[in-house]
Amino acid sequence: MATLMRLCGLLSYVPSTQFYLVSKLSLETSRISTAFSLRSLSLRGYSMSHLPTLGIGLGFREPLRSDLFLHQQQVDFLEIVAEHYLDPPPQKQQELELLADHFPLIPHAINLSLGSAEGLNTDYLRKLATLIKQLNPPWWSEHICFTKAGGVDIGHLSPLPYTHEAVEVLCRNIEQVRRYVDVPLILENITYMVTLPGAEMTEAQFLTEVVERSDCGLLLDITNLHINAVNHNYDVGDFLSQLPLERIVQLHFVGGHWHNGVLIDSHSHSTPKEVWQLMDKVVAKVPVKGIVLERDENLPPFAELSAELEEARKIGKRYRRWD
Ligand SMILES: [Fe+2]
Repeated sequence: MATLMRLCGLLSYVPSTQFYLVSKLSLETSRISTAFSLRSLSLRGYSMSHLPTLGIGLGFREPLRSDLFLHQQQVDFLEIVAEHYLDPPPQKQQELELLADHFPLIPHAINLSLGSAEGLNTDYLRKLATLIKQLNPPWWSEHICFTKAGGVDIGHLSPLPYTHEAVEVLCRNIEQVRRYVDVPLILENITYMVTLPGAEMTEAQFLTEVVERSDCGLLLDITNLHINAVNHNYDVGDFLSQLPLERIVQLHFVGGHWHNGVLIDSHSHSTPKEVWQLMDKVVAKVPVKGIVLERDENLPPFAELSAELEEARKIGKRYRRWD
C-alpha cells in the first residue's frame, strides 16, 4: 500500500465524505444509462477452487530487495504494487523482470478506483491490463473503495456507502475491467475511519453483495477486519459468518498502531496476537491460496519478517492448505 495513503489515513475521512458526495452526484446521472443486467454477470463465473495454491507471500518493497534474494526459500511469491510498474523507467522495468525471474508475482492495484460512479480511467486500465498480461498471474487484486471523484485523485482508499447503488457502480466498473483483463480479480476489504450515512446493508452484507454479483474472489485483509471490528465495535465472528467464505482466495496481514484511542492501519508493526488468532480461525475454515505479509513502515530486520512468514506458513500447514 502506498506510504502516502497511510500518512493521509488519519485526516482523510472528511474529504472522503465530500468526494463521496461528488461521486454520488455523478452516480445519479450515470445510473440512468446503465443498461446491462447485473444478474448476467454471475453467469460468467470462475471457480476459486481451481486457482493454484501459492503459499506464503510478501508485499515487495524496495528496501527488502537484497534480503529477499538472500532468503528466497522463505518466500513463495511476491505481491507487487501495480502502480509502481505502469509506466516504469528502465530501472523499475529491470527490477520487475528480475523479480519475475525468481518469484511468482501477484499485481496488487491501489488506484483503479473501482467505486467511482464516473467510471474508470481507460488509459490507466490499458496500462494495468498490459502489466497483468506481461506477468500472467493466476489472479490480481484491487480494493472495494474509490480513490478518484470529480476529476480529483484523493490519494486515499476511501470507503463507499453500503448501498445498492454503490454495488451497481462497482459491478459496472468491474464489467468494464473484464473487457481489458481476463485474469481473475479478487477484491480487498479496506479500513475506514467513519461510517458513511445512508447505509442500506451492513459492511459484511455489502462485501458479500459486491463479490457475488460481480463474481469476484475476496482478498480478506484480516488486519483490516480486526481494525474495523475494534474501531466500530463489532464481532469478528459474526462478520465472518456473513461472508461467502468460499470466495476467499488470499489473506493480508500485518500490524498497525494506536493513535488517540483509534487503531490505525499503518502497516508499521508486528502482527498482534488477535490477528494471528483470526488467521488461524479463517485458515481453519477456508482453503486459502495465499497469505501475504504487507509491511510498509518501520521495516524491521528481515529476520523478524521471516519469523512472521514462518508463523503464517505453520498455520497453513496445520490445516493442510500446503505442505
Ligand atoms: Fe491489505
